[in-house]
Amino acid sequence: MLCNKLKYISVILVLFFTAISCISESADNLFPTNDVEANIVYETELKSVIESKCISCHSYHLEGSNRYDTFDKTKSSIGQMLERINAVSNIVMPPDESPQLTEGEKLIFQEFFDVLNNGSEPVVLPFKLTWTAYKYAIFEERGGVSGTFEDIQYVLNQEYEEPIDILKDAEIRINTASVNIDGLEGVRTMNVGTQFFPFFTSQIKGKVSSYTQDIAVISFEMNGIEQEVIFDVIIEEDILKLTGTIDDMSFFEWDEAYNQLETVCGEFHENMVWPDIDLEAEILLTK
Ligand code: HEC
Repeated sequence: MLCNKLKYISVILVLFFTAISCISESADNLFPTNDVEANIVYETELKSVIESKCISCHSYHLEGSNRYDTFDKTKSSIGQMLERINAVSNIVMPPDESPQLTEGEKLIFQEFFDVLNNGSEPVVLPFKLTWTAYKYAIFEERGGVSGTFEDIQYVLNQEYEEPIDILKDAEIRINTASVNIDGLEGVRTMNVGTQFFPFFTSQIKGKVSSYTQDIAVISFEMNGIEQEVIFDVIIEEDILKLTGTIDDMSFFEWDEAYNQLETVCGEFHENMVWPDIDLEAEILLTK
């Protein structure tokens, strides 16, 4: 018994040191990075964010890679930085009492990481979609369940003069198999991914059919059925935010999927998921 435990511990130690030595043996050689384009993102966007929101404290690292004052140090720490910016269990950076990052600034850290690691891929603009469904039988006591999709393709008008015109002829295609509720391994993701969408629609299409400064009309197609939904438009700093509600999912004939999900999860939501779904999309404005 003890012997087994020791064996187990030594296996973990070996794995641990292998991992460490792989990393210190210059990750560059194993995974070539796209330094040229990443350096442009660093110089034009990321550097000023780090200078205003991180450096005041991180200059306490007089030496070493955590000082974050050059491209190379940022490059070697970007994984750690992203982890802390989006931390759930560790201390979030910047700490509570310091000026916080805007959503747009967080996306710049992500963009730097993406460009560094997928240089040959076209640089896609950050776009985030969140949906909220409601459960429990009594309306006043209903509880929201929010999620997103990992695989969304989108076309935005990057040639805009006025920020609102980023919506001109904009389109999205959502791969519903990429639904994500509490992280990809989560039970709810599994349930909705295997018991709901396969019985509903594999793709959701959305297309902006018209817009003003305050609203956008988006035509959705799912399950072969189309309907227009009106979204409010708000521009906050460098984010254009769209919020709206699909009032009645039964219009898209979701019944078969609904009933299938009921058989697996009904008891957890008092056999009730409400037919309205709230949607929120955030689009980063880069100009
Ligand atoms: C108010 C001071 C303060 C600010 C502002 C701040 N940090 Fe930190 N940071 C710390 C301290 C102190 C630690 C060490 C304690 C810890 O790990 O929580 C730390 C640790 C970290 C670590 C873990 C590695 C290390 O250096 O120890 C990362 C990564 C990090 N910070 C990233 C950031 C990023 C990115 C920003 C800006 C978006 C930022 N921090 C802004 C004080 C700060």
